[in-house]
Amino acid sequence: MAKAPEKLPGHVAIIMDGNGRWARRQGLPRNEGHRAGIENLGTVTQCCIDLGIPVLTIYALSTENLQRRPRSEIQFLMRGLSRFLREKRQELVEKGIRFKHIGRLDELPRGVQRHLRLTEEATADCGTLTLAAAINYGAHREITDAVRAIARKVKDGDLDPEDIDEGSVEEHLYTDGLPALDLLIRTGAEKRGRVSNFLLWQLYYAELYLTDVLWPDFGQEEFIEALRDFARRERRFGGLHKDERKSRRRVAGSQRSKSS
Ligand code: IPE
Ligand code: IPE
Ligand code: MG
Repeated sequence: MAKAPEKLPGHVAIIMDGNGRWARRQGLPRNEGHRAGIENLGTVTQCCIDLGIPVLTIYALSTENLQRRPRSEIQFLMRGLSRFLREKRQELVEKGIRFKHIGRLDELPRGVQRHLRLTEEATADCGTLTLAAAINYGAHREITDAVRAIARKVKDGDLDPEDIDEGSVEEHLYTDGLPALDLLIRTGAEKRGRVSNFLLWQLYYAELYLTDVLWPDFGQEEFIEALRDFARRERRFGGLHKDERKSRRRVAGSQRSKSS
């Protein structure tokens, strides 16, 4: 196993793209790619636990996927998801994985809603890793829902518009309670830097890592490579480059000694 860097992100999100292409390359039906993709989730989740990364958010199904993919594909995904949650619930508890759904629950099939709720309840006290699963998730929807909830509070007289700040917006997002996002990985990216309606507010100052490796092939080695790339980056959050800060300190110091 490749050596993981010391400086690790506290919150990683992954756009798990490329299942269909993976299947096509193997001469298999698309659904086999989804099967392999669900399987791979276990590998990357375990990697987060082994390394001590506390939060992983995964993009499993967008609102657009739900609306625009063939019914048979959605049915396959929903069945796979229900099975995954049913079979893995106990394992999640044993491994200390807190499961959290982000997205619109009410539009999902009732059985899936039930499994999501049961898994959230069963793992509520787990503290090793938080696994946030974006299923029927869309960032535009999330922000729209937040605006509506805030407007309702203002209308009811529970919130003064002057008191609305960035924190109050965050409190109304599906991701309320999760720490700031540090790293976004997109697999199957084919050199295209698309965000596909994922975590638009939360991306803020996240670092982006795009890879052509398709999700079912994105294993431990590939994940660690992404983490190493992240560790090499200097995050400035709008501030100055490190060398620039140093040289400004030097200039300020020499000006002080000249004037004394
Ligand atoms: C990502 O794989 C998983 C879902 C969107 C459910 P795709 O199904 O988008 O795979 P490609 O992009 O067609 O290869
Ligand atoms: C993004 O992949 C959504 C998920 C991985 C769940 P898509 O395959 O839906 O993205 P586009 O259509 O290429 O932007
Ligand atoms: Mg895709």
